[in-house]
Amino acid sequence: MTDRELFDLAVKAAGSSYCKYSGFSVGAALLCDSGEVFTGCNIENGSYPLTNCAERTAIFKAVSEGKRSFEAIAIAGSPDGDFSKPCFPCGACLQVMSEFCGGDFRIVLSDSEYKLDDLMPKRFKL
Ligand code: THU
Repeated sequence: MTDRELFDLAVKAAGSSYCKYSGFSVGAALLCDSGEVFTGCNIENGSYPLTNCAERTAIFKAVSEGKRSFEAIAIAGSPDGDFSKPCFPCGACLQVMSEFCGGDFRIVLSDSEYKLDDLMPKRFKL
């Protein structure tokens, strides 16, 4: 699975986005160490804070299926179907990544790749 293929799966997942309020669709594709991929989209709610981001949807799907070792996540977000601009993960999603992933975890965006250490160098951990 190349990073480009993983990103394309994120774009595809954005097609299921339920973004009735913001109009901003996001898709994520999470690559497990096993090679399996779990995808997710953002799911908004009329009670706005209940919205779930695409990244957390993908991570929660994977963890609920018994997966806890992850290599990379691709993220695609756009207000208009053009996914060429990078869509960075929010702080809440970075914190959820931190629960399961080390600093080398790769975050693949439209035009670049980061490590979790780059985007959240100091992380809260119990
Ligand atoms: N969103 C994500 O899905 N992931 C992020 O990392 C940041 C934001 C979603 C939440 C909301 O549905 C929309 O983008 C606009 O904030």
